Formats: sequence, C-alpha cells, structure tokens
Amino acid sequence: MSLLIANIGELFTADPENGVMFDAAIVADGDRIVWIGLNADAPPADERLDAGGRAVIPGFVDSHAHLVFAGDRHAEFAARMSGEPYTGGGIRTTVAATRMAGDEALRANAARLTEEMLRQGTTTVEIKSGYGLTVEDEARSLRIAEEFTAETTYLGAHTVPAGADSDEYTALACGAMLEACAPHAKWADVFCERGAFDGDQARAVLTASANAGLALRVHANQLTAGPGVRLAVELGAASADHCTHLTDADVDALASGDTVATLLPGAEFSTRSPYPDARRLIEAGATVALATDCNPGSSFTSSMAFCIALAVREMHMTPTEALTAATAGGAHALRRTDIGRIAVGARADLAVLDAPSHVHLAYRPGTPLVKAVVQDGTTVHLTTAR
Ligand code: NIG
Ligand code: FE
Repeated sequence: MSLLIANIGELFTADPENGVMFDAAIVADGDRIVWIGLNADAPPADERLDAGGRAVIPGFVDSHAHLVFAGDRHAEFAARMSGEPYTGGGIRTTVAATRMAGDEALRANAARLTEEMLRQGTTTVEIKSGYGLTVEDEARSLRIAEEFTAETTYLGAHTVPAGADSDEYTALACGAMLEACAPHAKWADVFCERGAFDGDQARAVLTASANAGLALRVHANQLTAGPGVRLAVELGAASADHCTHLTDADVDALASGDTVATLLPGAEFSTRSPYPDARRLIEAGATVALATDCNPGSSFTSSMAFCIALAVREMHMTPTEALTAATAGGAHALRRTDIGRIAVGARADLAVLDAPSHVHLAYRPGTPLVKAVVQDGTTVHLTTAR
C-alpha cells in the first residue's frame, strides 16, 4: 500500500541533505519513504493525504520517558510550587503505588500515555522501568513496556528502595535483577545522583548491563554536577540525560565523544529549577536531543511541542535547533538512523501541523497543532476539526 502526502507548504526534513523544502510532497510505500520532491512532480499512490499547504515534520522521537507506573503525585507538585525543593525522594511514592497495581492497570496507564503522545506527533518513544525496584516488579515493568515500544530501558538503579542497603541493592541490580530484565530491555540506565547512585555504583550497574548485552544511557547531572556525564561518555553511552549542572570538563567530554546530551526541560519546568545551558553545549559541538522525561514526579508532560517551546523560550535554542533536537537528536540518542528525519529510505513517520511553519511549535505554545500523524506509512491520527 502506498501513500502520497500532497500539498506540503513547508517540509521540515531534519535531514542535512534535504533541509527545508517548500511546495513539496512525499510518497511512502509500506513503512518507508520512497519519494520526496516538488508537489507538482508527485507520482500517484494508492492513498492520498492532502496537507492543504500546511507544514510537515518528522514524527517526534521522545527518547526519555517513564510510562510504567501507577498513581500520580499532584500534591508533591503543588508543594513544590509553594517552595518545596525536588530531591527525587518522591520516586518511592510511585514505587509503592506501582507495586500495588495489577498488570492491567499498569498496561492501561502506559497505553493512555503512548496514545496521548501519538496524537501529539510522537511516533517513537523510549520507555524505562524503575518504579518496581524488585526483581519481579522490574521484569514485569519491562514486559509491559515492550508491548508499546522496541526502545525499552532497564532502570532498576532508579533509586534505592525504602529499607534497602545501597550497596546490597546495587549488587542486586547488577545480578539477579539484571538477569531477569535483560531479555526485555534494549538499554540500561542509572540515576547517577547524590541520594541515588554514586559514580562507583553507577559504573558497576552500567558495566554489568553492557556485559549482559544492553546498550547504555545515564540520568546524569540533573541535580548536581556529579560524575554521571563523564561516566556516560567514558562507557560509550548513547546518551547522557538531563545535563542540567555541567562543568567545563563535562561539556568537553560531551563535545568530543559520541554521547548525545539529552535535555529534558519539562523537568526543570516542573521542579522550578534552572534550565540546562543548551547554547553552551551546542557551541561546544555536542549533539543535543530534547525529550519529555514523562513521569509522574518531575515532568508529567507527554508533549514534545511543549518541550520545544521551553527550549526556544527558556534555553535560547532556535526553533530549527529545537525541532531538530526533538526528531533527529532523539534518533541519535537511540542510535537509530531510520527515524527522526524525512528522507528516502527512512521510516514513514511524520506529523502534519495545523500551521504553515514548524516555527509555530514554539510560537503557539500550548496549542494542539498536530493535524495528522503517519506512523510506519499508515495514517494513525487525523483531526476532523477544521
Ligand atoms: O528523570 N531523576 C530521576 N528520575 C526521573 C524522576 C522520577 C520521579 O521523580 O518519579 C527524572 O526526572
Ligand atoms: Fe528520567
């Protein structure tokens, strides 16, 4: 089955060769893009989606999300907005609720959030465990996560559960827990932070995970300028996520290695913290991605457009840089070349915006701008309004 997306006013490809095109069209065959060119030259196809002069962008790649959990923490958010600091301690509240929940409730919550993401243009999402923190609860979190995405991440080392000894728990996360989780995970991640796992503990979990065949990503330097970023680069992690508090050595490491700096401005928004210095990273030559960090504690948003608006307004990224980071950047952070860009051979994952330009993603914050979403060459969402 082939699909023609016709009458594209502005085509933002996030692909260095194709750049931004005007009066364009795309043809997908099966799940791949097979043709891109001027609308006037477009070949026929089995089906036609008329963009009506609107902008088309690659589907967002949300490379950092925690979607397997139960409950929410709105009281904690309200307390923060009244001056309480964020410490990561609330993770245990969600762990307690998640352990109590049945598989069906966890599955339904993850389904609701992935559906919410898809309607907002996200065609790929990474999903972490990390709210189970027992061998069984981490493994079932990943079994549920893999029902929704191929990009599953073992985050047994999210925090030390209440009552556990930190070194004993780290040993579990390197041993029996990893063994139970590895068959269901592509990635391993550690929250390397004061109050969670220190540099040595994070290194142990990441090294054991790599030996078990998992690729690496790290929650690094969110609350303090700790060892996480340098560890991520040293171990060849695909991504160091948060990067809120960076030393010059951290920036140099990110600029010289192939570890993407994934920025999560929804977390700074929701914890009322200073935003990461995106300009410093970009100017040093680091690759930057943007993701939601969707989770019930520090960033309960599923909207990549919101993160783009924050990146532009609060982190001084240009709209083009922010959208590139939310698409091609996310793909890079997942070491994927088939997503996050519009090019012949890439997956036919894209969003039609109800706007003439991608700039509207930041220019019209908080406005639902996604008119249609195509995933794997199939139109999966189409608004009927207007
Ligand atoms: O990425 N920092 C660690 N993990 C999450 C927050 C989890 C939570 O507060 O429940 C994050 O911000
Ligand atoms: Fe996170």
